[in-house]
Amino acid sequence: MLKPRKLENKVVFITGGNSGIGQACAFEAAREGAKVVVADLPNSEHQGTINALELLGAACLFVPIDVSDVESVKNAIITTVAEFGRLDVALNNAGIGGPYSGIHDMDEQEWEKIIKVNLTGQFYCIKYELQQFLKQGGGVIVNMSSLAGLKAERGLVPYTAAKHGVLGITKNIAVQYGEQQIRANAICPYYIETPFLKGVSQDNKHIWEELSPMKRLGKPEEVANAFIYLASDDSSYCNGTQIILDGGVMC
Ligand SMILES: NC(=O)c1ccc[n+]([C@@H]2O[C@H](COP(=O)([O-])OP(=O)(O)OC[C@H]3O[C@@H](n4cnc5c(N)ncnc54)[C@H](O)[C@@H]3O)[C@@H](O)[C@H]2O)c1
Repeated sequence: MLKPRKLENKVVFITGGNSGIGQACAFEAAREGAKVVVADLPNSEHQGTINALELLGAACLFVPIDVSDVESVKNAIITTVAEFGRLDVALNNAGIGGPYSGIHDMDEQEWEKIIKVNLTGQFYCIKYELQQFLKQGGGVIVNMSSLAGLKAERGLVPYTAAKHGVLGITKNIAVQYGEQQIRANAICPYYIETPFLKGVSQDNKHIWEELSPMKRLGKPEEVANAFIYLASDDSSYCNGTQIILDGGVMC
């Protein structure tokens, strides 16, 4: 007998869906029967992702978005609902890293840029996703934080602050909207092998591998499995919390 799919006909909206973790989540959502909206920067070369989703049999759509621009976020949600009629699951995943720096000599513009994408951008997305969920009578939010949302990532100051903030917003959604059938949870990964780590030296990667009890970094597909759990009814009483995917680093 075929196993029932966990996101059959659900409309799943993924920011940063054209690369790395977001793309792996898009593919897994498609395998679980979802209609998938890949939201990413307007200039992203998205045809490969869309072709792969179509091969998996998914109804899918690319929508251009810059999460740091509120109008673009609003339009992306409007386009999603115009195309698929509703929104069931939102994965707020788009994010950028940043240069390592002391706090005392941190460049203010660098701070603004990272906070704008990684924290304010999450707020913009959540605001318009919630408006749609309230109209429909429910929905699920999954926010991409990081291990840097739970502990300091030495030198990545605005990144650490933003990812802690993401967990703060997640908890607020849980306490403010639980009664409206809206759930929100977060994922906190350690280093995951994606284009996010391009530019990182092999030496640094090796140090990070050694810090993990499992002696390796994570894979985007391993994050996608956690996403499917949080997006689906499997986690129906899970609200305002986070899944740590770190191979045991925090132990
Ligand atoms: N890879 C890791 O080691 C790691 C670890 C912990 C958390 N994370 C988080 O996971 C998320 C995804 O990271 P990834 O590893 O897949 O990286 P990635 O670089 O492969 O993908 C990030 C995606 O976000 C998009 N993006 C960037 N800025 C955007 C913006 N302003 N508006 C819309 N889209 C934008 C990019 O175009 C890209 O498609 C990020 O939030 C990151 O902070 C990554």
